Amino acid sequence: MALSLVVFGPPGAGKGTQASQLGHSRGIPQISTGDILREAVHAGTDLGRQAKTIMDKGELVSDELIVGIIRERLRRDDVEQGFVLDGFPRTVAQAVALDEILTGGDPLVIIELNVSDRALVQRLSARRVCGRCGATYGASDGEPPSICSNCGADLVLRSDDRKEVVLERLRVYQEQTQPLVAFYQDRVTFRSIDGDQSPDAVQTAIDAAIDIMAVTVVREERSSVG
Ligand code: AP5
Ligand code: MG
Ligand code: ZN
Repeated sequence: MALSLVVFGPPGAGKGTQASQLGHSRGIPQISTGDILREAVHAGTDLGRQAKTIMDKGELVSDELIVGIIRERLRRDDVEQGFVLDGFPRTVAQAVALDEILTGGDPLVIIELNVSDRALVQRLSARRVCGRCGATYGASDGEPPSICSNCGADLVLRSDDRKEVVLERLRVYQEQTQPLVAFYQDRVTFRSIDGDQSPDAVQTAIDAAIDIMAVTVVREERSSVG
């Protein structure tokens, strides 16, 4: 069975951290719409120019544009064994479109990461990213690092991690993405996880949730067959 995963949660919840880990451990690609848009900004494409203005304000890029990107991405061969979506869907319209794209496939497993607003603001003000290789760092011992341990380049604050943009991203999350909980919560493949623990503890909780859900899905499929 392929593993079709969605990791969703507010800005700074640890979607990227966990999705990257899941991608490696499960051997499936991490598909981050935020990363795809930032790559387009970096490359200076039309999409990048459009997206940058919106992202720097903390708003969402249009559903039509993002759904088009995901539709294309999910046609590639590397998703045969599954994928982990990070930052998509983030509106109900995107979630409806995703169900339609995946019609007839394995059930979507949805993991929500729950983190307090206070911790989110703290994490994002301390996050540093590498301008060269894209690595992401959190603060250790309260101090954000300044040099990338991967490639030696300088680390910078992500352009949408300025305080006023973070507050707007949190507001947009409440207004447009939080309704996804109501959209997904009745599915047997939905789990809400406490993201206010160490990254390793969150990872363990996600792995356990995925494995339990896989068993539930197989049981349901067997009972519906006969
Ligand atoms: P996107 O890049 O997806 O940003 P986001 O949702 O705001 O989330 P972040 O990437 O900021 O946080 P994260 O949850 O990945 O946390 P991370 O693991 O880095 O989107 C950016 C923009 O693109 C959007 O605002 C929008 O404009 C546009 N966009 C993207 N997708 C779109 C879509 N589908 N539709 C429309 N527009 C779209 O962790 C954060 C920090 O905390 C790091 O420093 C990390 O090291 C640290 N950390 C992680 N886990 C823990 C832990 N357990 N304890 C302590 N620290 C931790
Ligand atoms: Mg991210
Ligand atoms: Zn680097």
